[in-house]
Amino acid sequence: MFSIDEKLLRFFYESDGRPVSGEEIARQLKLSRTAVWHHVESLRRAGYEIEAQPHLGYRLIASPDRLIRDEIRARLKTSAMGCDVVSFEEVDSTNDVAIRLAEEGAREGTLVVAESQRKGRGRLGRAWHSPKGAGIWCSLILRPKLRPAEASQLTLLAALAMLRAVKKTAGLATLIKWPNDLLLHSKKVCGILSEMSSEPDLIHFVVVGVGINVNWGKSEMPSKIRETATSLSEHLHKKISRVELLCQYLWEMEALYLSFCEEGFAPILDEIKKHCDSLGRQVEIKTGERSLAGQAVDLDLDGALLLRHDGGRLEKIYSGDLSCY
Ligand code: BTN
Repeated sequence: MFSIDEKLLRFFYESDGRPVSGEEIARQLKLSRTAVWHHVESLRRAGYEIEAQPHLGYRLIASPDRLIRDEIRARLKTSAMGCDVVSFEEVDSTNDVAIRLAEEGAREGTLVVAESQRKGRGRLGRAWHSPKGAGIWCSLILRPKLRPAEASQLTLLAALAMLRAVKKTAGLATLIKWPNDLLLHSKKVCGILSEMSSEPDLIHFVVVGVGINVNWGKSEMPSKIRETATSLSEHLHKKISRVELLCQYLWEMEALYLSFCEEGFAPILDEIKKHCDSLGRQVEIKTGERSLAGQAVDLDLDGALLLRHDGGRLEKIYSGDLSCY
């Protein structure tokens, strides 16, 4: 279902800054000219700057950078990722909502996004700070035909999608820190929490939750993460359009996921390795009760990290907390 506002905004985005005649909009949306005017007024009240030019029509000058359904849908060029968008001002955790929606049968590609989270969750039971407007806090529902052991491939795939999106939207080069982070100048800028529902040999769904710090000043960050975390704006010295970055991420996710379903993980893994911060380095990995030290040699086709212990023995590690030296 497309809302009128989504269709109207899509008109504006597709016209690339040129005015669109009220008559044309009315004809295409099957509305009266007065109804079009009412919708334009309601968009203006929501923060859109729309100019009315006599004899030419309406022109969109500026949009608020808000992660709301109609705005995201109007800009999306994807067909699967973001096929449904559920947006909130505030929510406990977008992963929790996405899991509930997936259990109720939501389609693959459904996106849940929020301006802020009260109880954002990170890996290993940690909290994820998600204040209003400072980043993108979102979760995507996937229904891959994979075995549960292969699900961690999707976390790496999402990391690559966000890495590409950040490069294209903000021109910044990030690195992938296995298994689920993006680093910018050696500090964490993005974390991914994938959660799944499965049977021994079958995945019902995977929720890929991504949090990326976008427009977040260092002084506004909680002191606990100030030294280890960063944001895109901190390095660009200007604000970045979160909605543009989110749409680019969905675009990259769609391209990578399609290739993944058709050709498997190998080609994607090659690109991931090129951008992986940890390979070839001495690392320490905390996994459960164990703390392992050695060299991170390679990433395996199932997304696991190959660790060469100091004695030369190779071990496959499926998840953990990694530090490089
Ligand atoms: C980590 O680095 O530990 C993973 C952080 C994942 C945070 C995102 S924000 C959107 C989604 N909802 C959550 O509660 N967590 C993920």
